Amino acid sequence: PSDMLVDSFGRFHNYLRISLTERCNLRCQYCMPAEGVELTPKAELLSHDEIIRLASLFVTSGVDKIRLTGGEPTIRKDIEDICSSLSNLKGLRTLAMTTNGIVLSKKLPRLKDCGLNAINISLDTLVPAKFEFMTRRKGHQMVMESINTAVELGYNPVKINCVVMRGLNDDEIYDFVEMTREKPINVRFIEFMPFDGNVWNVKKLVPYAEMLDRVVRYISARCWNHKLINLSMILTINSSMQRQRFKNVERCKDHPTDTAKNFKIKDYCGTISFITSMTEHFCAGCNRLRLLADGNFKVCLFGPSEVSLRDPLRAGVDDLVLKEIIGAAVKRKKAAHAGMFDLAKTANRPMIHIGG
Ligand code: GTP
Ligand code: 5AD
Ligand code: SF4
Repeated sequence: PSDMLVDSFGRFHNYLRISLTERCNLRCQYCMPAEGVELTPKAELLSHDEIIRLASLFVTSGVDKIRLTGGEPTIRKDIEDICSSLSNLKGLRTLAMTTNGIVLSKKLPRLKDCGLNAINISLDTLVPAKFEFMTRRKGHQMVMESINTAVELGYNPVKINCVVMRGLNDDEIYDFVEMTREKPINVRFIEFMPFDGNVWNVKKLVPYAEMLDRVVRYISARCWNHKLINLSMILTINSSMQRQRFKNVERCKDHPTDTAKNFKIKDYCGTISFITSMTEHFCAGCNRLRLLADGNFKVCLFGPSEVSLRDPLRAGVDDLVLKEIIGAAVKRKKAAHAGMFDLAKTANRPMIHIGG
């Protein structure tokens, strides 16, 4: 590992998220405005070769995990070539993708052969009509099929990203928890974050503490429903229930760089997690860097500062110069994001450009 990826707070960055395209086959409300966003002309987007040249620079400097994002990464025509080339980089251990799952089912076997070894699928509702409302497109059934395909192909766990919005899908938390009962999936409840064009509002945010409380109550109610309650039990039920509650939903030991707080429910095959960017940020353990589809390098999801790697690359500079540019940007990374209310007021890109 080189010094290039260590920031001024001593955080080492071994995880690069590469956005492959600004296009998407959905129009999710939390990600972009209904009218879509302005797209960068194709000639200004990174080509396969440019992506591999830059990725290789990061991998030789210590990056061992790359996640492909978008837009929607699966709609990029050369996605298989990109996966093959990336997975051949010596030193890369994880090649992951975050996708909306619309066209994944058909493509996943090939992608797996090309070296894709981890998959996160976005799914915010189990109700088809609501899916259409939230994403402004059809396709619920296709996403469900992709989840099953991913499980069948042996991805374990298949991570499901569920952005929780009050009044929209927060009534489905229990149904999502139930998805993990029989399948090796990890459902991640995500706090709604503000980005340009997504009409964020604190009232729509369901805080981690509230989501966890609702899950714990639900699970403990389920457990007691399965027991026959007799008179003698009624006397002890209250205190016992309190103790029982937390035994059934157990906090796992998380990795220090994890975005998610992970929980195991007794007797459930999968797991559930919470991504608490707004009420309990995890910036102290941050190991992430981002390369956007237009070749801009972004050191924080929320930091507005970006620097182009595409321009010097196209001007023909050598690796040493690129490394200096990258290293300097990493050193400018802030300790943490500004907090949800400041973030909501600060200009950033729309989420569709950043890829999460
Ligand atoms: P793993 O690599 O499997 O841990 O997934 P991930 O959580 O890093 O990535 P994913 O693309 O599945 O994103 C899930 C949620 O976490 C999305 O809402 C992302 O916007 C959010 N997220 C991902 N990386 C960061 C980050 O560095 N900071 C913050 N605050 N949120 C992030
Ligand atoms: N807040 C939280 N998560 C978001 N995502 C997209 N927009 C938001 C938002 N405003 C999630 C998507 C996807 C991941 C890349 O980021 O659900 O799974
Ligand atoms: Fe890292 Fe920025 Fe995300 Fe914090 S908000 S975890 S510093 S990318």
